This record gives sequence, C-alpha cells and structure tokens, in this order.
Amino acid sequence: MRAAAVVAIALAWGAVVPLHAQGWRHVGNVDAVQVRDDGVELASGAARVRVTAFADGVFRVRLAPDGAFKADASWAVVAAPAKVPVRVDDGAARVTVTAGDVVATVHKSPLRVEFADAGGRVLLADAADQPMAWMPEADGRTRVRAWKQLPADEHFYGLGDKAGPLDRRGRAFTNWNTDAYAWAGWTDPLYKSIPFYLGLRGGVAYGVFLDNTWRSSFDFGLESPERAAFGADGGELDYYFIAGPQPARVVERYTALTGRTPLPPMWALGFQQSRYTYLPEARVRDVADTLRARRIPSDAIYLDIGYQQGNAPFTVDRKLFPNFEQMIADLRAQGLRTVLITDLHIPNSRGKDYAPYATGTAQDVFIKMPDGSPYVGEVWPGPSVFPDFSLTRVRDWWGGLYRDFAAMGAAGYWNDMNEPSVFRAPGNTMALDAVHRLDDGRSVSHRELHNAYGMLNARATYEGLRKIKPDERPFVLTRAAYAGTQRYAATWTGDNTASWHHLAQGTPNALSMGLSGYTLVGDDVGGFIGSPSPELLTRWFELGAFNPVFRNHAATDTRDHEAWVDGEAHESRRRAAVERRYRLMPYLYTLAEQNARNGAPILRPVFYEYPSAENFYANSRDFLFGADLFVAPVVDDALDAHVVNLPPGEWYAFGTSTRQAAGKEPIKLDPRPTGAPLYARAGALVPMQPLVQHTGETPDGPLQLHAYLPAPGSTAPCAGSLYQDDGTSFDHEGGEFLRMAFACEAGRSKTTITARVEHDGFAPWWQDIDVVVRGTARAPRGVRIDGRAVDGWSFDAATGALTVRVPVAKREWRVEIAH
Ligand code: GLC
Repeated sequence: MRAAAVVAIALAWGAVVPLHAQGWRHVGNVDAVQVRDDGVELASGAARVRVTAFADGVFRVRLAPDGAFKADASWAVVAAPAKVPVRVDDGAARVTVTAGDVVATVHKSPLRVEFADAGGRVLLADAADQPMAWMPEADGRTRVRAWKQLPADEHFYGLGDKAGPLDRRGRAFTNWNTDAYAWAGWTDPLYKSIPFYLGLRGGVAYGVFLDNTWRSSFDFGLESPERAAFGADGGELDYYFIAGPQPARVVERYTALTGRTPLPPMWALGFQQSRYTYLPEARVRDVADTLRARRIPSDAIYLDIGYQQGNAPFTVDRKLFPNFEQMIADLRAQGLRTVLITDLHIPNSRGKDYAPYATGTAQDVFIKMPDGSPYVGEVWPGPSVFPDFSLTRVRDWWGGLYRDFAAMGAAGYWNDMNEPSVFRAPGNTMALDAVHRLDDGRSVSHRELHNAYGMLNARATYEGLRKIKPDERPFVLTRAAYAGTQRYAATWTGDNTASWHHLAQGTPNALSMGLSGYTLVGDDVGGFIGSPSPELLTRWFELGAFNPVFRNHAATDTRDHEAWVDGEAHESRRRAAVERRYRLMPYLYTLAEQNARNGAPILRPVFYEYPSAENFYANSRDFLFGADLFVAPVVDDALDAHVVNLPPGEWYAFGTSTRQAAGKEPIKLDPRPTGAPLYARAGALVPMQPLVQHTGETPDGPLQLHAYLPAPGSTAPCAGSLYQDDGTSFDHEGGEFLRMAFACEAGRSKTTITARVEHDGFAPWWQDIDVVVRGTARAPRGVRIDGRAVDGWSFDAATGALTVRVPVAKREWRVEIAH
C-alpha cells in the first residue's frame, strides 16, 4: 500500500517521467550573441534569451520561446532600469556579462545561465542537464520553467506568506491566491503570491524574483534533491537575480525593485481590537469603554461585515448603528480609530439606490465574461459583481467610494476576500476565463491576472484615500497580495485557528513576509476559528505584541477574545504584553521608518543580522524585533523548561543588568516565564517612552534611552537611533521629522554615551531624556554631562540600572560615567 502510494506520488510529481516526455522544450545551444548596452541577447533556434543588468547588483533574465518578447509591463516592479556599466566578454564556450560585483555567465552549449560574485563564487546556476524550458498548451498559453542546481547546504526563505517552517528546503509551493479558510501547517497555496525567494549558503545570500502573475510554482528539492526549480503556467519566464551578499542587502535591493511600504500612521502600530462581528453600536461602545476602563492600551476597533446592510459594501445598517457617525466620533475622542471592512464584491440585486452598483454599472466598471455578460459570483451579500481593478479609471471610481466613510471619520479600511473569494464556485474563485481590461486596450483572462487582483484592489483603496485626504496617511488592510502590495496595504495571515500550532506558525509567516519585502503583517491574535484556552490566548497576546500588525480577531461562533475575558491573572499578563509594546513605541516607530526607507523588516530572522549563524537557519520560533531585541517566545504548552539559544554576541535579559553570551549550553528557563522572553543586544540603545493608553496620548515624562552596555573592549557596535514625526500626516516628506543618532563607548574606567541630532525638523513631546544605563556593576564614581559634573542621576542597586537625566536633550550631548 505504502510503496504504491509513493510511486503514485512520484509519478504525479513527474519525478520518474523523463522531462522531454512531459512536453518541455528546453532551450538549446547558443547560435548567436548580440551585445546590448545592458547585457546580451542570445539566439537559440527561434528562441531568444536576454540577460541584462537591471540595477546595481540586480540582473534580469527573460526567455522568448518564439523570439518575440512580451510587452515589458509589470504590476510589481516600480524601478526603472538603471544605467549600469557592463562588460561583455564573448568566448567560444561562454559569454560573460560583468556588472559591479556580479558576473553573469551564459554557457553556450546548451544555453545555461549562471550568476557568481566577483570572487568567482557561483550563487545561482541553471541545472547542467536542464536548461530553461517552455511547454505550449492547447489553449494557447505556454508554460515556462527554469531548473537550478541545488547545493546540499543551501537554505531557502521567503515566498511571502506560506505555511510550514521558515526554511523552505525540501518542499514545493504553488502561488495562487486562495481563500484558505482554516489553513494549517502544510496547506498550500494560501492568500498571497509573492514569487520571491532568498537563497542562503554559508552566510552568503542572493534573491530570485519571478515576475509572473500566472499560477506559479517553486520547488526547493522536492521533485529532485539535486535541483530547485521555478516556473509559471503562462506568461513569460522573466526573473531577477538579486545579489547580496548579506540577506539585508538582498531585501534592500528587492524592495528597491518592487517598492517599499510608506510610513504607516503611528496608530496602526498600536493594539487593534476586532471581532466578526461587533454588533450593535452599544456593543462597540462597550468594548471601547472596557478597553479604557481596564487600561488595555489600544488604538483601533474594527467593524466587520455585520455593520453593513445585508453585507453590502459601503452601506451602514442604521437599525444596528443608529448613530454611526457619532459612534465613530466618540471612539475617536477615546483615542480609538474605527476601521471599516469594505469588501470588493458588489451585490447586483439591491436596486438603483445602491450607489456602488448603480454608478459602477453606469461607468462599466465590472468584470465581464468573454460573451460580454457580467461575471456574477456569490459572496457575503449574495450574487455579486466585481470591479475590474486593472483599469485606472475603475481604480479611481473605487477610490471615490470611500468619500462618505472618510467624511464620517473612519480612519482605516479592510479589503478582505480579494483573492477573490467566491462561494460555491470552481476553485472558490472567479471564472478563469473572465476578462480583465487593461489601460492600453488589451484584455487578459482572469487566469493571468488572478494573483494580482487583490493587490489592485488594495491599490485602488490606497490611491483613492490619498486623494480624499491628501494630508492623512491611509491605513488599508488587505488579505490577498502579489509582490509589491507592500506599497499599499498592511496584511494578515487570514483565517487561522485557535491552536498552539497556529500560534507558532505566525512567526515563520511574518518572518517570511518581512524577507519578501512585506513587513506590516500579523496574525489573528487568539486564532480566528475556534476558542482558545485562557493560556493560549494569553501566550498569543505575549507573542502578538511583537507582530508588526497587532490585532485581536475572532470568528462569529467563538467565545469572546478580549483581554479581560479570563480573569485577573490572565488579564494582567495580557495587559503587560500590550504595555511593553506601547513603551517600545519610539523604537518600533523608528523601525517602521527604517523599513519605509530601505525595506529592512521589523521582524527579522537571526540570520538577517548574523548571516553566518547557521544554528538559526532552521529556527522558526525565535526572531529579532529590529536589530537590537531578540524574542524567544513560548509557543507551546509543555511543562518542561523553556530553552533559549541566544544569537551571537552578548545579550541582556530585557530590563535587567545581566549580560550573557550565547554559550554552548542553552539557557533553560524553568519554570517557564510568563511573558515572551525578550533580550537586548549588548550595545543596544533602545528609545522607549512612558506608558500611554493610545498613540495619540502625550506621554507623561521624558523620553527614555535604554543603554545596554557592551563589555569593555567588546567590538560589538554600540549604536541606536530615534525617528519621530507627527505620526499621521505626510509633513515628514517635506522634512518635518526628528532623527537622532546615539552611540556609546564602554571602557573599564569610563563609559561615554553620546547623542547627535541628524535632522531637526520636528518638536517632539519630550524635553529631557532619561538615559537608563545597564551593565555598570556598581554605582558610578561620578557622572558628567557635556564635561560638567552633575548629580542628576540615580542608581538602583536592585536592578543595576543607572538613570541619568539629560536636560533639553534635542541636541548634541555627551554623558560620561566614571566607574
Ligand atoms: C473572512 C476574513 C475574516 C472576516 C470574515 C468576515 O473570513 O478572513 O477575517 O472576519 O471574512 O468578514
């Protein structure tokens, strides 16, 4: 039985079927080399292959089986090709294209592409026996695929939101946006398609981005342990090789290519409370009042589909919400933003008073079938039509639908079900032959556009909001995405389950998303489906407090999920988790700004900062929150000790003065700690603030700079930074922000901590900074600020923390501590 099953699976995956018998036509020998300004074009029979330098450290490879390249259009890529100096050397057996530190070699017989660094280290190479290939299908499309050599010690990351462990090696994945209700550890595909991966081997990383919106697939050694492969069911084999060598450099370059996340409104980094579905108005107000009365810091409340009339987007059920506008205003006065769900399916049965359908029909915005009839699919409101978001004029129309809600004071919008999800339809989605129109007059099938559809929905929302309120940073939450969606919306991992498995799965998903250029992500805290035990819900708050998007959400038939539902002991642990996040807000916001500027994710696998830390290559549990904080969360309900391996260097248990190095023996925390174990890098300077109940509240007291000193003589960098602005507007684009840089030098007899104002365009809420120094064993012999001895300091012997107040601290200053 078992053996038969194995053979059947092997056959299904093609492992024992020779590839030529499957119908692949591999590119043959190079017949001619044409040198271009940016690289080479190679002829092989009728086929053409282009290998060009696209940007510093980025090459592009394209295959045209019949010699005609497709129109050079991309939904994902926003960067224009840069003028990169290239050198082409054409030899008998191979041609090389050198650009900066990358050498692309095209072997001529048969045509195989290979990328190496300047030192000759090969990073990505076509499999020797399998050049890239295509396979014409009866319906006119052509499959495309490339096979790559698979070194035994290579690890794979990325592909956005995928189930299972962080390291993708040994598995294969499909990209096809899917409403994956109750997905679990091996479910594939999920809601998003981000055809980008990062290879890592011996501390050296590179990236591959396949820019193709058709159903695509990636294989990291499942079909054959000797090959990795990727390809798509149609469209062009059009991919980018992205050099590192550090993972951070790969992500920076990938996000330069596909765009970065604009700085979110600060409130979106606060705690968000949601449920499917808070009804009626009194219940929403009650949740808001309870959040405040029980002092659970929070910034947003979500209204799920139940607030609408018959689930019709852009309507309000006035029987359930008689004072909708007033409710929004009252929540706002409590420091709570209202986020409204606005799904994309437009019911076609509500009559002409339903503006989205009436104006949409008048303006011909809905997707049609090849025979010209509208495509109709059933979703929450019943039979519905779907906007053709591929047209600019339709995105403009959609964006305009937000005018009323914006005027009512809603602060954010939730674009759900945009895979699109269609009930009782084949594949639970839109008909594959439905037609999308393009601005240039061409049209394409849904089969081609499917994976980009949700992105275009989010884009329409984001761009519409920018027009309606040009001075306010939009907040959009999308479920489906394609590469580049990080430019428009935050996201979450969809309908997870209230299980320990799912609590643990949230981290590899978020880390993979961050490596894939998409950092604003979270999972439903508590699990969407099912009811968490009190301990599971508490652990979820403790870990979720580090999700870039920290949102508690639950399905209709589940028990209540709010922080206070399980008694005082659980409530206080949950409150402590949320409070820690709010105290860290200056650090978190600085990370969000860094992400907006260079793509560095907020959550990072340890190897992102320490590429050679191979003991973390397969670690799906622990992560860095920015470069300076390490989280080793409790994600199971075992009773034995909680085991922690620290990243390289020295680390402090957060908020203590005990420095410890990653040792041979892991740390065993027994009994298991309440709260997520958190460590600060020795050398970190972490800005924090006094506790507030929401991000709009002015903190009462100075900014705090927590200095975790490196050991005297250590080579660990001691540095930190702070970014602040008004948190809501676009004034920072005109220079209205504050950026400070901090540094320290720890010696045996003296420690110096310095600050510099790098950009002075914003007046923060604080005047003074309390520098909290950890790692000095005793009370200091003296403290000087800018060379003058001061007595404005205190030493807490119990915690080993020395606090020095620096007055009027938005300036260059120097604190010297004599030990
Ligand atoms: C989908 C979403 C879920 C939401 C529900 C109702 O299942 O994933 O978050 O609550 O629809 O809108």
